[in-house]
Amino acid sequence: MKPDASVTEVVLESKLENVEQAEEATRSVCAKLGFDEETVFHIEMAVHEAVINAIHHGNKEDPLKKVYIKFILLEETLEIHVQDEGPGFDPGKVPDPLAKENLLNISGRGIFLVRKFMDEFRVDSSPGKGTEVIMIKHVDSRIQSNQGGTGREHEGDSASG
Ligand SMILES: Nc1ncnc2c1ncn2[C@@H]1O[C@H](COP(=O)(O)OP(=O)(O)OP(=O)(O)O)[C@@H](O)[C@H]1O
Ligand SMILES: [Mg+2]
Repeated sequence: MKPDASVTEVVLESKLENVEQAEEATRSVCAKLGFDEETVFHIEMAVHEAVINAIHHGNKEDPLKKVYIKFILLEETLEIHVQDEGPGFDPGKVPDPLAKENLLNISGRGIFLVRKFMDEFRVDSSPGKGTEVIMIKHVDSRIQSNQGGTGREHEGDSASG
C-alpha cells in the first residue's frame, strides 16, 4: 500500500441485512473522491454483490464469522477489499450468465456485475485464510480504456477448490 493511502475499515457480522452498512460506507468513502453519481451507484452495486457473496457463500451466514471490508483511497483510485472466512472459489470457474444455457437462471449474476462495474477484479483465497475479493475503480476510468484494458486481466489466480 502506498504511504499516502487513506484506509477505512468496516467489520460486519454475517447477516444479510448488514450489507446496508457496507453500502453506506461505500457512499461515504466515494464522496471523498471525484466519482459521478452513476459511478458511485455502480461501485455500491459491486460492493453489495461482493458482500452478499461473502456473507452467504463464504461465511454461510455463520454468526461466528465476520466479513472484513477495507476501502483504500488513493488520489485517483479506490481499492476495495472484501474478506470472508470461507473456503474460497475460483472466479475463472464461475459460469457465464450470458451463455445460452444460463440465460434463464435467476442467480449467478453477482460476479458478472462486479466485473462490469469495476475496472479491476481479483480473488485471493487459500485454505484457512478465507477469501479476499479485491475490486478497483479509477476516478477517471478512461485511463483504463486508453490502456486497452478489459477489466479481466487481473482475474483471480488461486482457489482452494
Ligand atoms: N465469497 C465467496 N465464497 C465462496 N464462493 C463464492 C464467493 N463469492 C462467489 N462464490 C461462488 O461463485 C458463484 C457465483 O457468484 P455470483 O455472485 O456470480 O452468483 P450467485 O451468488 O450464485 O447468484 P446472484 O449473485 O446472482 O444472486 C456462487 O454461486 C458461489 O459458488
Ligand atoms: Mg452473488
